[in-house]
Amino acid sequence: MDHFHYRNGQLMAENVPLEQIAAQVGTPVYVYSTATLKRHFRVFSEAFQGLDALVCFAVKANSNIAVLRVLAKAGAGADVVSLGELKRALKAGIPASKIAFAGVGKTKAEMAAALEAGIMQFNAESEAELETLNDVAASMDMVAPVSVRVNPDVDAKTHAKISTGKSENKFGIAWQKVDAVYARIGELANLKAVGVDLHIGSQLTDLAPFRLAFERVVGLVRDLRAKGHDIRHIDLGGGLGIPYDPDAETPPAPADYGAMIREVLGDMDCNIILEPGRLIAGNAGLLLTEMLYEKQGENRTFYILDAAMNDLSRPAMYDAYHAIVPVAEPSGDETLKADFVGPICESSDVFAKQRNTAPLKAGDLVAIKSAGAYGAVMASTYNSRPLVPEVLVDGDKVAVIRKRQSLDELLSLDEIPSWLSGD
Ligand code: LLP
Repeated sequence: MDHFHYRNGQLMAENVPLEQIAAQVGTPVYVYSTATLKRHFRVFSEAFQGLDALVCFAVKANSNIAVLRVLAKAGAGADVVSLGELKRALKAGIPASKIAFAGVGKTKAEMAAALEAGIMQFNAESEAELETLNDVAASMDMVAPVSVRVNPDVDAKTHAKISTGKSENKFGIAWQKVDAVYARIGELANLKAVGVDLHIGSQLTDLAPFRLAFERVVGLVRDLRAKGHDIRHIDLGGGLGIPYDPDAETPPAPADYGAMIREVLGDMDCNIILEPGRLIAGNAGLLLTEMLYEKQGENRTFYILDAAMNDLSRPAMYDAYHAIVPVAEPSGDETLKADFVGPICESSDVFAKQRNTAPLKAGDLVAIKSAGAYGAVMASTYNSRPLVPEVLVDGDKVAVIRKRQSLDELLSLDEIPSWLSGD
């Protein structure tokens, strides 16, 4: 459930008409709803009530510091994958003791900064990384808490580009090697194994792959404990899907996901870490855009928007579905089919093909929904289009939480070398 709805014929973000935001900030612009962020975080957390569970928001889904601040205040920890994300999480007020650091390519500098900050754990992805982490920790006279990310070789049955738990994926350490890896950690003086970690993929709409992977991990933890490793944290990753298209997808409710986890892990006497990203932020944001032109093709109608694939890349990258709705509530029932496209010079710059829509005209505002996760964070400046702003709404309050990049800012990053200046 989200807090974007029509009132008096106008699409609102909570109590604020989107039209007003467009007038104040311009388009394209990402708009987030605080009430929706809080609600999703609460509903997800409630699914684990009574368990020793920590919900670490996957910062990669939406790393705006104000969004992180909303979640920090609600009690969230963070799953980070870079020094930039670590700094954002800390700046937002998420305590280091609630931060897990994941990713297959952590640099020494990132390891040192995370050790310095005192994070909860490193989710390690390779033997080589563990050796490096041990060296870095030794040079700082510290002991790094580590969880090994295991690759459970489970098919998440989601889009291939967001599937991570199969043996052919680059993530985690192969199932067969895990024993030896924990034995090696035991030999390294500056590492301490505190947990086990996995993440099998994103936008899962079925509990079965989760259950299979979690059962494998439970077996593994029992083995490791029997060998003397004090495994306290089990990090189950993120991945629970959301209804982008309510007519086509009915992902499991967080309560069902929680009940399944309770069933599989209930008697493990451990701290359970969860890393939802999309579920918290996805439907808490939309991309507000203006229609620039209508164009009649040979046998189709194109609605050309001022937003493009550089602003929201999911449709181009994953053929992802995003609902598209007019900001002015349609008065009649008339519909037609149109292709919603952006201005970029690529045929993949399409938000929706042959989508049923109310007739629109140039100048109309349109909302591309479910854009709060993997939206602004994946934006680029392709075609020299500056990064678009982000706005946070809370009731009737509105704040620009990231200003629009100016063309000057964008162009000032380039430099002409001395040998090319002059005539
Ligand atoms: N934990 C780890 C280790 C992850 O790699 C991810 C996502 C998450 C948690 C959060 O997953 P979520 O709950 O959001 O599904 N750009 C793609 C999604 C990539 C997900 C990458 N990892 C998209 O737009 O669909």
